[in-house]
Amino acid sequence: MSKQIKRIAILTGGGDCPGLNPVIRAVTRTAILKYGLEVYGVRNGYRGLYLGDIIPLDLDSISGILPVGGTMLFSSNKDNLFDYPFEENGKTVHKNVAHVGVENLEKFGIDALFIVGGDGTLTSGRDFSRMGVNVIGVPKTIDNDLASTDTTFGFDTAVGVATEALDRLHTTASSHHRIMVLEVMGRYAGWIGLHAGIAGGADAILIPEIPYDIDKVAQAIEKRKEMGKQFSVVVVSEGAKPKDGEVVVSKVVEGSPDPIRLGGIGNVVAEQLEQRCGLESRATILGHLQRGGTPTAFDRILSTRYGSYAVDLAMEGKFGNMVTLKGNAMSYDSLENVIGQKTKNVDPDSELVQFAKNIGICFGD
Ligand code: F6P
Repeated sequence: MSKQIKRIAILTGGGDCPGLNPVIRAVTRTAILKYGLEVYGVRNGYRGLYLGDIIPLDLDSISGILPVGGTMLFSSNKDNLFDYPFEENGKTVHKNVAHVGVENLEKFGIDALFIVGGDGTLTSGRDFSRMGVNVIGVPKTIDNDLASTDTTFGFDTAVGVATEALDRLHTTASSHHRIMVLEVMGRYAGWIGLHAGIAGGADAILIPEIPYDIDKVAQAIEKRKEMGKQFSVVVVSEGAKPKDGEVVVSKVVEGSPDPIRLGGIGNVVAEQLEQRCGLESRATILGHLQRGGTPTAFDRILSTRYGSYAVDLAMEGKFGNMVTLKGNAMSYDSLENVIGQKTKNVDPDSELVQFAKNIGICFGD
């Protein structure tokens, strides 16, 4: 099988994420330097596959991208070719145009496609694999919620940004005797909230996996007041919800594999805590700052490992798989299995949650 692979292509899909460029670099360099392959890049995610927007990559074109955020190939979190939107007679209709993507791969003589993305992008990757395309998946998301792998690249950078935000909020919270609420991303998983909350010394962490009682959070803040602490810092994951309550939706993005965009719970929590605790409260929604900018050293290394190992896997003919990190070892799992599972969530009974509780962090449960 490995003898047949001469030309490969890389595609980045879904929301951007620090570490995408290091993956592109590692795939390209490994393919050229170790295996003597030709490398192409598909621009703008699956839209580029449909339009045949496919460009050659060489050592020069990827030079200098290691520390750069975003993706030099651009991305799209819409454009599912299995359900592609067209305007017809003033109406939007959806068609399966995946065969056009496959034809374009054949036209460019591409023997293997490296798809870098989260669950939406990799679901299409699985479906292209079912159509006979030689696919290798690489797990990307700041949310760290992909099944089968311990850590996705981009997560460490997002946690670092959120931690720095908490450090900065601490000083202003203390100066004004305020409650400062930081809302972080993560969709329906609390990984960023939990890790940044611990690293940034939050007094309360509210995550989707542990529905909260706002009165319990208020009690924890009152207790701090009794101990002479006139300020508190609270981290809220965007997918957090109260016991017997619902998540806060900020918008619906038509055409996205997961159209619901969460956001706004930080303001709700800040308002409720102000009323209950008699301390002025402010909310900060950290948003896309968590996704932009240069990746941490950890994410650069992880992306390099994922990208390089992905090419090794392709040359062994192990298609239809996603590269994974298990413990500290590179491994792989079938895309069928990865996509077939539920997303990976924080276990409320995990050691990390327990340690956080041991040091007095309130989860509102
Ligand atoms: O999946 C990554 C992520 O940043 C989530 O944490 C967040 O909920 C979502 O994407 C935001 O999506 P968009 O970039 O479409 O606003």
